[in-house]
Amino acid sequence: MEKKEAEILIRQLREQIEDNSRRYYVDNAPVISDYDFDQLLYRLADLEKQFPELDSPDSPTHRVGSDLSVEGGTRFPRKKHKYPMLSLGNTYSIQEVEDFAARANNIINTSFTYSCELKFDGAGISLTYRHGRLVTALTRGDGVVGDDVTVNIRKIANIPHTLKGSGWPEDFEIRGEILMPFSSFDRLNQEREEAGDEPFANPRNAASGSLKLLDSDEVGRRGLWCTLYHIPNQDIPGFEGHYQALDAAASWGLPVSDKRRLCSDISEVMDYINYWDSARKELPYATDGVVIKINSLEHQRELGYTAKSPRWAVAYKFKAEEALTKVLSIDYQVGRTGAVTPVANMEPVFLSGTMVKRATLVNEDFIKSMDIRIGDTVKVVKGGEIIPKIIGVALESRPADAQVPHFPTVCPDCGTPLKKEEDQARWFCPNATACPTQIKGRLLHFLSRKAMNVLCGEATIDQLYERGFVRRPSDFYLLTLRQLMSLEGWKERASERFLESIEASRKVSFDHVLFALGIRYVGQTTAAMLARRFGSIDAISKASYEELLAVEDVGETIAKSIVEYFGNPAEITEIERLKEAGLQFSMEAEEVKASDVLAGKTIVVSGTFALSRDEMKALVASHGGKAASGVSGKTDFLLAGDKPGPEKIKKAEELGIKIIGEEEFMAMIGSVKADEKEEEQFPTDLFGGTI
Ligand code: IVH
Repeated sequence: MEKKEAEILIRQLREQIEDNSRRYYVDNAPVISDYDFDQLLYRLADLEKQFPELDSPDSPTHRVGSDLSVEGGTRFPRKKHKYPMLSLGNTYSIQEVEDFAARANNIINTSFTYSCELKFDGAGISLTYRHGRLVTALTRGDGVVGDDVTVNIRKIANIPHTLKGSGWPEDFEIRGEILMPFSSFDRLNQEREEAGDEPFANPRNAASGSLKLLDSDEVGRRGLWCTLYHIPNQDIPGFEGHYQALDAAASWGLPVSDKRRLCSDISEVMDYINYWDSARKELPYATDGVVIKINSLEHQRELGYTAKSPRWAVAYKFKAEEALTKVLSIDYQVGRTGAVTPVANMEPVFLSGTMVKRATLVNEDFIKSMDIRIGDTVKVVKGGEIIPKIIGVALESRPADAQVPHFPTVCPDCGTPLKKEEDQARWFCPNATACPTQIKGRLLHFLSRKAMNVLCGEATIDQLYERGFVRRPSDFYLLTLRQLMSLEGWKERASERFLESIEASRKVSFDHVLFALGIRYVGQTTAAMLARRFGSIDAISKASYEELLAVEDVGETIAKSIVEYFGNPAEITEIERLKEAGLQFSMEAEEVKASDVLAGKTIVVSGTFALSRDEMKALVASHGGKAASGVSGKTDFLLAGDKPGPEKIKKAEELGIKIIGEEEFMAMIGSVKADEKEEEQFPTDLFGGTI
């Protein structure tokens, strides 16, 4: 491959990985499986190996993903980890596990044992106990800095606030996973669906999302569970091995898995893997593999770390569970934006801890390319992905009367002929203003938690719509107690509560209102960026396509959709009605720090700052600048924090681009001085100064 081609591919892969990493760690809503994610990383690592000059220390191949809460989401104080919280090397084949053992054998001269454990699929957590008391709990964050979620962790029943027994170190960290057992997960999702909230994709996302709740009592109600599996080496002097240290931790009352095994050779490791590959299906919580650790702490020190993971441990990931089942029928669902998605109804089958009876068929092309027919036996998988996916058809079991599905030509709800946009694979119903499903979908979205935050389920929307009380969002603000009490099953108290909650929504901040409007492709983060950058609905409605494009996160599709939205007189009339209802259509003055001091300037942000990198980019945008990802001839400044990417520095120097530091930048935008940074450093000897 030519270098030019590799450069483009590397850039695309990095963007794809960053995007999926954000969806996984921050939004808790992955759209690809862990396996597919790892494949992207492998391809990138491979290219970087082939073209070392294109490698960069800030490439995702050298960093762990970040779960830090971002702008627009729930905020927690951030704290630096005492030791970086790393990830594990993943393997998918027995051969790779054998390679791991062979590498360790080459370095360690004596015989050694392996501690084998389950790989728990939840949200990573690091607990600090001082003088026998739990003092801090941090999420993994970006591996260096985590969100301090101690208040929430204290609500998890099996985490002791005080240790028992004796012999615990005076000050130590212990790390593990917060899990949501399948039973709690099913209950939570059922409640969410009833309330009209999006259900969680899987228990991992539910656990991670729950840790970031502001209401710690709600965290307590969610039935979370903790298992601990790692004490950083330096914190447990005096123990021979990791396994023995965990035994001791168990004796101090800490939750440690009893599924661990000490194995004396690789064949015992294989037995452990094979046993749990099938036995895990009986466990009440999600596991996605086995972790194999060299047990001796001395050997662990000898083997050390790469920038991302220890050389003394490896994860063997189980293949995503598969099941065979039958396609009974196909529904064509119309979404809030009019897109029509085919969904297969299948004979219920138990898969990865939950009962599966529906699978997305993505779009018409997917059905055709797989040649899926009604009556077919299909193979379904459920890994980390949101909805089970059909990955194959058992042609040998195809019954003679299997039917080729016919994608509808008209909207299944309102009968309007479906349309397809150029280079889009999805059919959609263009009747946005009168298609009942789209109207109801938009109304539900308008009230949803991250929008106007009014508790309301699908059934209520159906009732309000059927009775003709609500057709558009502004109608919610005209509802009367009498109307609500006339609905079936509505008592006075419930009706009053609903009205109170509608009343309270008039105070919801503009960024949420903007998201609530349901402008196509404008998600929560984009809405927050736009609100902060422009400050008001009037400014956004007047913004040109180019001005919109200059906002971080806004690409051509989003910019086009925003321009179209404000070009529609019906939407403008609706906004006027909502304004009359008293909703917030501008940001509070202190939230719009917008100035134009950076207008026309393209700034690349690299390294770490007192604020997160996303926040720094948002600051650039709110002062009129454009934050770009790569240094090029178009860059005006390279804003370099701590440990900026050396490639970026080199390129900026070559191109004669000005490099500015955090303080200079803050002065430039007239903001307060950046917070003093913590002095504490990580022990560089352990990590070779690479983190
Ligand atoms: S040990 C230095 N043991 O898997 C890393 N990790 O993909 C020490 N995980 O970040 C981690 N089960 O959140 C370890 N038994 C186990 C684990 C485990 C799950 C998670 C952990 C880690 C991720 C890596």
